[in-house]
Formats: sequence, structure tokens, C-alpha cells
Amino acid sequence: MQKLIIANWKMHYGPIKAGAWVRAFRRERLPKDIEIGVAVPHVSLAASRASLGRASVPFLGAQNVFWSEEGAFTGEISPDMLKEFNTSFCLVGHSERRIHLGETDEMIAKKVEALLKNKIRPVICVGEHQLIKDKKTALKEVKTQLLATLSGIKKTEAIPDFAVAYEPVWAIGSGKPCTAQDAKVIHEGLREALEKRFGKHVEAIPLLYGGSVDANNVAEYISTTHIDGVLVGSASLDPRTFGLLCRAAVRG
Ligand code: PGA
Repeated sequence: MQKLIIANWKMHYGPIKAGAWVRAFRRERLPKDIEIGVAVPHVSLAASRASLGRASVPFLGAQNVFWSEEGAFTGEISPDMLKEFNTSFCLVGHSERRIHLGETDEMIAKKVEALLKNKIRPVICVGEHQLIKDKKTALKEVKTQLLATLSGIKKTEAIPDFAVAYEPVWAIGSGKPCTAQDAKVIHEGLREALEKRFGKHVEAIPLLYGGSVDANNVAEYISTTHIDGVLVGSASLDPRTFGLLCRAAVRG
């Protein structure tokens, strides 16, 4: 599987700054064998798409979605609306939305279902809240979250197209990342849980790590088995720093 790097700007950059970011990032020299995406605020999807022009990198994503196609849901955005911008993926269940907006596993499960129906790849974020030394206990918490968010997906012939981002809440924006070895243990457990849930090989589902990833530590995550890529917050805000991070990922 190709390794995957996704930028998450969070609540940064309206259309003007987003367009400038994309244009600047297009000038970066990027590794060919890595997939690179950027999750932008809804209001910046159009400007980001326009600034991308014919470039296919980075591919464009959103940071949130609602589960209904349309209706009386003031302030919400449907998967159908995201499709108008050729949005190829959408983050769901980010811990900041769980914490500040009260998103529950049930709500996230509905979002996952709606995105899959509309052929937009959900990137499902999960992670334990406190630093738990015993990785078995941490895994239990994260596994429960993941399985709950997948509860709406029926077992079908093909494995549904989604990705998972393991983001321990204590590692996000703290400058204290989870070590690649600890993340590997969780990823291995999540892969097993997915295999049990879908009853077949699930190697095609990318499992990303997120939480204080930067240009100095990215290569370690990318080169660790069971870690298929990274989700990057603050180190993605500057297009040149993010370009450097993408190059550092393969240099090792
Ligand atoms: P961070 O954020 O890289 O700033 O820790 C990651 C995320 O929340 O996705």
C-alpha cells in the first residue's frame, strides 16, 4: 500500500489564505511514492479546488460532514455538497469535535455510512483520552470506539473504502507524540479488530497515526510496520514546512 500523509488545517485559513497555501504547496518538490491529502475548512473548499487547477496533489478533503442528504439542519453540510468540490475524503470523529461539540460514536457512525454511500472516503479518528501506560487497556478503549463508529456498515463482498487515524488525545498538539512502537501496538490490535469485524483481509484499509507529527519524527512512523501514514495538524499549516515533512517521510 502507498503511504499516506494527510494535512489537517483545523480551523485555519479561509478562502484567501487557503488558495495561497495550495499555490505555495504546488511549488514544493514532493516524493512520488506517497499519497498526500489536505483537509480544509468547508468555506475554503472552492478556493482550494480552484488553486489546485489541474494538479492532482494534494487531494482534497473536508473536516466534517452531516449524515442527511438535505433538509432542516441549519449550519450543516451534506456529503452531496462535498462532492461538488470533488472532495475525495472527509475526517470524521476528530477528538476536537467529540470534546467541543459533543459528537458521539453514534453520530460518527451515521457520518461514516453517509460518506461511504456517496463514495467519499471517511477517515475515522479514534484515540484514548489519557496517557495509559498499559497499551492493552488503551487498545481496548480505542477498539471500542472504532467498532462503534463502524456499526452502520454492512458486511459486503468488498471491504468498504475508509481509513482510520489513531490519534491519542494526549498527543495532539502537545509536542509529546506517542512513540512509533507504542502506536504500532495499537495499530496491530486495530487491524485485528477490523479483520474480525469484516471477516477477511483488511490490509487495504490505511491506518494512520496522528498527534504531534513533525518533520523530525515522520520518517519513524512511516517506516514502522502497521503504520500506513500520518495525520498532521500544526506542522501542516506552513506549506513549506509541510513540503519538508513530506520529503522527510521518505528520506528516513
Ligand atoms: P497535531 O494535530 O499534529 O497538531 O498534534 C493532529 C490532529 O489533531 O489531527
